[in-house]
Amino acid sequence: MIKELSEKDLFQVAKIHKENLPSFLTEYPLSFIEKFYYFQIKRENQLLLGKIENGKLLGFVFGTDNVEKLYDNFISENKSYFYMNTFKTLLFHPKYFLLFAAKFFSKSFVSECKRQLVYIAVDQNLKTKGIGSELLQAFEEKWKGLNYYELEVESKNKAFDFYLKKGFYIVHQYNNWVEKKYLLGKYLHLLIIFTICNGIG
Ligand SMILES: CC(C)(COP(=O)(O)OP(=O)(O)OC[C@H]1O[C@@H](n2cnc3c(N)ncnc32)[C@H](O)[C@@H]1OP(=O)(O)O)[C@@H](O)C(=O)NCCC(=O)NCCS
Repeated sequence: MIKELSEKDLFQVAKIHKENLPSFLTEYPLSFIEKFYYFQIKRENQLLLGKIENGKLLGFVFGTDNVEKLYDNFISENKSYFYMNTFKTLLFHPKYFLLFAAKFFSKSFVSECKRQLVYIAVDQNLKTKGIGSELLQAFEEKWKGLNYYELEVESKNKAFDFYLKKGFYIVHQYNNWVEKKYLLGKYLHLLIIFTICNGIG
């Protein structure tokens, strides 16, 4: 069953996140990641869906309609907790210093679209069994009133092939000295029209 997740599911979300997702957030302690999602589900216009079987979370997808404000509530309500954990995490993972410096000094492409699928991940023992597809489909169903959304993926992440199969196209390639990733976009209505036309044809 795929459903919107609540506070009681967030420990499992954080665990799948930490075990599977290549991101700076992943380097923080599990409790920090859980708290990050706690503040996300309290925000308006975000979507956290999960596939649950017998109480076990098999995978989740998380999106927001304002990716630029992703951390705002979390930081404003937990300033010292946030900065202390960030300092510790940067100390143990100094490569992210370079990443943030590169972002700061390089003139980066900024998309007008703020609606993003931020994270999608499936339990590591259950990949390529169709769960990612189910989650993406449910996610797009919930957002079907909208025409377009984006996401970012590191160019070496195998999920890139998954997204291409799901109808995403490359909007922009970020290619600075520490970071190589793609911004991908997807038109939802075009895909429906294409599917209908294919069915008729
Ligand atoms: C990306 C991810 C969510 C896909 O979920 P999944 O349940 O494994 O995907 P599905 O089984 O629904 O696969 C759908 C299609 O994508 C393909 N696919 C899935 N993962 C793939 C991979 N790593 N490489 C190539 N193709 C892949 C499948 O072969 C399948 O193709 P088909 O429709 O032709 O059979 C999952 O692999 C994952 O959790 N990855 C780690 C976390 C991550 O990197 N997330 C993305 C961050 S941007």
